[in-house]
Amino acid sequence: MSRLTVNGQPVHYRMDPETPLLWALREASNLTGAKFGCGTGHCGACTVHVDGNAVRSCRAPIGRLEGSFVVTIEGLSNDRSHPVQQAFAADTVPQCGFCIPGMIMAAAALVDRSDSLTDAQIDAGLTNLCRCGVYPRLREAIRRALRIKTGQETVAGAPPPGIAPEAAARSVPALRAEPRRRRGAQLQEN
Ligand code: FES
Ligand code: FES
Repeated sequence: MSRLTVNGQPVHYRMDPETPLLWALREASNLTGAKFGCGTGHCGACTVHVDGNAVRSCRAPIGRLEGSFVVTIEGLSNDRSHPVQQAFAADTVPQCGFCIPGMIMAAAALVDRSDSLTDAQIDAGLTNLCRCGVYPRLREAIRRALRIKTGQETVAGAPPPGIAPEAAARSVPALRAEPRRRRGAQLQEN
């Protein structure tokens, strides 16, 4: 059993200690914001925070995270008020959006510990891959996030979520148990 704190909630995962954190989050905690991209630690789509650091959760076995504090995109803020979330919305960074939860978590770790960053530091600190190529807007958004963080700029902010995270979790189909159908009935339907 692996005991962690996920988005402020104590969690005991009764899973193989070698289970990647990404699987535990998505399959057991129903936190599907972190995405499975490559599974090899290269793309960053699965990035979450572990004890304040950006970590590629597809390569982080839960058995080695005992006692850690994990924050996912769902827990970064309740109202999308983190400077990076505000800046991403203001600069309309996302295209297809697949990489964005991981991008935001990686960028948030960077912005949380710096008040200013050069382009070279942004490029070195943010190695997530985006198949849509949002990189130019990404740099702009991180510069804007730093200005928001340091009080040099205010933006209207990202629109508040239309649904509370708890309600959203309840509406995820994976949480609804399908009634078990008899094989005969299934064959008849087919
Ligand atoms: S899915 Fe984890 S780095 Fe690509
Ligand atoms: S916005 Fe499409 S993969 Fe990045």
